[in-house]
Amino acid sequence: MAEEPETEPEIEARLPEQDSFEPPESFVEQANVTDDPRDEFDENWPQCWENAADKLDWFDGYDEVLDDSDAPFYEWFVGGKLNACYECVDRHVEDGRGDATALSWEGEEGETREYTYEELLDEVQAFAAGLRDVGVEEDDVVTMYMPMVPELPIAMLACARIGAPHNVVFAGFSADALRTRMENASSDFLVTCDSYYRRGEKLDHKKKADRGAPDEATKIVVGRFERYVPTDGEYAYRELVTRHEGASVEPVERDAEDMLFLMYTSGTTGTPKGVKHTTGGYLSYAAWTSHAVLDLKPEDTYWCAADIGWITGHSYIVYGPLSLGTTSLMYEGAPDYPTKNRLWEMVEGYGVDVFYTAPTAVRAFMKWGTEHPESHDLSSLRLLGTVGEPINPRAWKWYYRYIGGEDCPIVDTWWQTETGGMMVTTLPGVDEMKPGSAGPPLPGIDARVVDESGDEVDAGDAGYLTVHKPWPGMLRTVYGDDERYLSEYWETYSDEDADEWVYFPEDGAKIDDDGYITVLGRVDDVVNVSGHRLGTMELESSIVGVEGVAEAAVVGGEHDVKGEAVYAYVIVEEGQDTDDTFREEIVDAVEDDIGPFARPEEVVFTDALPKTRSGKIMRRLLEDIASGDELGDTSTLRNPDVVKDIERKLEK
Ligand code: WT7
Repeated sequence: MAEEPETEPEIEARLPEQDSFEPPESFVEQANVTDDPRDEFDENWPQCWENAADKLDWFDGYDEVLDDSDAPFYEWFVGGKLNACYECVDRHVEDGRGDATALSWEGEEGETREYTYEELLDEVQAFAAGLRDVGVEEDDVVTMYMPMVPELPIAMLACARIGAPHNVVFAGFSADALRTRMENASSDFLVTCDSYYRRGEKLDHKKKADRGAPDEATKIVVGRFERYVPTDGEYAYRELVTRHEGASVEPVERDAEDMLFLMYTSGTTGTPKGVKHTTGGYLSYAAWTSHAVLDLKPEDTYWCAADIGWITGHSYIVYGPLSLGTTSLMYEGAPDYPTKNRLWEMVEGYGVDVFYTAPTAVRAFMKWGTEHPESHDLSSLRLLGTVGEPINPRAWKWYYRYIGGEDCPIVDTWWQTETGGMMVTTLPGVDEMKPGSAGPPLPGIDARVVDESGDEVDAGDAGYLTVHKPWPGMLRTVYGDDERYLSEYWETYSDEDADEWVYFPEDGAKIDDDGYITVLGRVDDVVNVSGHRLGTMELESSIVGVEGVAEAAVVGGEHDVKGEAVYAYVIVEEGQDTDDTFREEIVDAVEDDIGPFARPEEVVFTDALPKTRSGKIMRRLLEDIASGDELGDTSTLRNPDVVKDIERKLEK
């Protein structure tokens, strides 16, 4: 019974018109949090954070919630002892929930695997024993470079079990990016995989891993389709696990402040930063926000369609949901493979209750058409979420109408790699929703919008997002670089003499009369492509590394699906051809240095870049050109003609 796809005006007509939405009654009735805890948290700060710590079963209770004596090097739940793997696995088995499903996995080609909490415990212990066998000791950093296969969370949990911090590198990153991260983390161990499918194409992942890993690294390789035969200095994952089958490995007692993992992220300057997260604060925060915002319950089937290679997957595929004993669904492949129905087939097939994705995905769904979600029974869904970039009101309403059936609250969650967990969002059973605005800060989070001098802006005015109190999930430092931690995050708005510390996330924002925050985007030189953070400086240095390139400027331009796309303006050396072959060479260099997801959307060859009279590149102008926006006053330019020239080239 093939129905005619709806036309644009028909779709539009069915989108709700109002600008605010109350949480649906059906949701409120069963929500984890229904009375707004914000006042109580404020009055009782920082003790209020016991609410988060109470989500865990500590081996040894902490003596103090917060030690701020060496701010901004804060310590949380001081003296407490715990093990993150025990919290996410063992205790659910001890509670008699060993038969409940922990991980449900689906490969791109349709194969499935399931691990109950008991099975997960067995495999994690066997692999933990295997890690020790190959020489991993407590506090050694173990790098993981693999796609979305169950062995990834298993390896993370096995590391957590023996107190070895993990350092997951997104599989889409290049060999070079892997090397930088392993070197910076002084990591001598790599867990990787031989190959995987992406949109039906088999990728030789091991080749990339071999090029990137330092020579002396010990490698453990997952055979994705068949038994992996290790060469010198390598081990096969399956062989190690088989050898240690039935092993019992005690979860080591970690201090609350011991490092749980490192996660690298991009900033304005220099090399990627190793964001350091700890065991007690991070895990409490991931568990608490999963409870309060994602409303997770043990009986839920929950799907976060992100990749574990990013922080979203760490906090909300692995640590948050598993600490609460939920079933976390993992999908290996592309959302439109083999058809654009894939995600909705999975939601229907698994009976997904809570679904969390990025606005870029929602915009893609909109483009693909309503017939895909409409031909599936999505009634199991009770809550939807987004993360990674601002969501435009139209995409929000489409998500609400066509995926949620106007029956599911949407949480638009603002946070960062550095914050460890969600910071600004509505509580789904409490707060009214306003499409396009993330919402008020979470309980206990003192987020504000300030002007250049740090004073709060009036409602409706644009300013900078700042956080005026620490929180348990916060990063503790930039790995090996306390100076950079201070200068990147604290220097801008803190008053050191007064011991007043203000965290600066480098986002622009607005706030309304109800205290709802609309995040406008990065104010530093970072491009947000499909929710992935890319430093323009990393991109530029990759491009100027190509022989024949004299100068390059990279900016983000608006893109209707990706949010932002990479635009590269390139000046070539005398005699260098500016044909498609050379353009391709530049794009390839970026792919090689960073990864395919960083590919420039456009490479524009130009004779000059717009510069001020003092010689500074006018980035904002280049952004406006890339976005096709109206250009403001260009009279302060040293070379106003160049702007016309670039605009003309982009139009063709
Ligand atoms: C940057 C952090 C948090 C996990 C994924 C990205 C942007 C994130 C939102 C949102 C508007 C958002 C910010 C932030 N961002 N969530 N709900 N609304 N912008 O983590 O790579 O560390 O990037 O993503 O610009 O600073 P990340």
